[in-house]
Amino acid sequence: MYTIDLRSDTVTLPTPAMLAAMATAELGDDVYGDDHTVNRLEALAAQRTGKEAAVLVASGTMGNLCSVLAHCGRGDEAIVGDRCHIYNYEAGGASALGGVIYRSVPTTADGELPLAALAAAFSPGYDAHTAATRLICLENTHNTCGGVVVGLDYMAAVRALADERGVRVHLDGARVFNAAVALGVPVDAITQYADSVTFCLSKGLSAPIGSLVCGPAEFIARVRRARKMVGGGMRQAGIIAAAGIVALEQTVERLAEDHANARTLAEGLASFPQLEVDLARVQTDIVYFGLREGAPDARAFIAALRQHGVLLGGAGRRVRMVTHRGIEARDIEDALEAVAAVLRDAA
Ligand SMILES: Cc1ncc(COP(=O)(O)O)c(C=O)c1O
Repeated sequence: MYTIDLRSDTVTLPTPAMLAAMATAELGDDVYGDDHTVNRLEALAAQRTGKEAAVLVASGTMGNLCSVLAHCGRGDEAIVGDRCHIYNYEAGGASALGGVIYRSVPTTADGELPLAALAAAFSPGYDAHTAATRLICLENTHNTCGGVVVGLDYMAAVRALADERGVRVHLDGARVFNAAVALGVPVDAITQYADSVTFCLSKGLSAPIGSLVCGPAEFIARVRRARKMVGGGMRQAGIIAAAGIVALEQTVERLAEDHANARTLAEGLASFPQLEVDLARVQTDIVYFGLREGAPDARAFIAALRQHGVLLGGAGRRVRMVTHRGIEARDIEDALEAVAAVLRDAA
C-alpha cells in the first residue's frame, strides 16, 4: 500500500544528488583529520552558523551530549527547559556519563524559558552547598511545543542574562534551519546568540546521517575529545559528509514547502470538531494536535490511520504529524481524507 509517512522528518531518504555525491566523495581517515569531505562540511557548517569551528557527529543526541560535556564538568549544572529534547529524550546522557546536573525550569507554550525563572535557577557555585551553573540550553525550533520558532528578541535576552552571569548558552538547533526559513533570516541571525549549536542534517534537510556541533575553536576541540570518548570518532565519514554538503547547499530553502504543507494540514485538521489544533503554534513542519472526546485515543487513532496508509506518532490524547521532503500537497489531501474516514468510523 502507498504510505504517507508523517511520523517524523527523520524518515526522509537521501536525494539523488546526495547519493551521487556519496558515491564519488573524496575520503580519508577523519580521526586523523584526513577526510577532506568532512573537513569541507565542517568548514561550511561553521561558516553558515557564524562560528569559528565545527565537528561532525553521528546524531543530534551525540552533538548535544558532547556539547554539554565540553561546557560542564562533573557536579556542574546545566539549566534546561522541562519540555526540551536534551532533558526528556536523550537518556540523561550528560548526567549519566559526565556527572552534570540538569536543573529544569518551566517552558512556555512558545518554547521559551521565562527569564525570571532562568534568573532564579542560577546557583553561583561559590557557596559550598551549591553546584555551579555553567550552561543554559535552549531549543529552536522547539519540538514538543509544536515546532514553534523561538524569537530572536528572546534569544538576545537570554544571551544578555548569560553574559551578566558568566555562563554559556548551548542551542539544540536540531531544526534551526526550519527556524531560519520561517523567520526569513540567515541561520547565523539565530545562532549568534548561542556559544554553541547542534544542528541535524538528517531531519528536514534529508541527509541520511549526521549532525554538526559549531562553536569556538577551543570548545570544538573539547567536543572532539568527548566525541572520541563516546565512540563517535568515525573514519571514512566523508561518505556521510558528502550528503551533508548537498543538504546544506540544496535543501534549506525547500523547507518552506514543508512549512506550507504543515499549515494546510493543520487548517484541515482544525476543521474537525473532534480535533484540537492550535494554529498559532503551527509555524514550521510539525503539527501537534489533541484528540477530543468523540475521537479515539492516540493508540486507536494511530492504528486506524495505519489501515489507510497514514503513519503518525503520539500517545495519550496528543498526536503529531510532521511534513518533509517526499510529502506533497496531494498527500496532505489524502491524509485529511483518511482522518475524516477514521473520525466518521469512530462516531
Ligand atoms: C529538538 C531535537 N533535538 C535533538 C534531537 C536528537 O536528534 P537525533 O535523533 O539525531 O539524535 C531531536 C530528534 O528528534 C530533536 O527533535
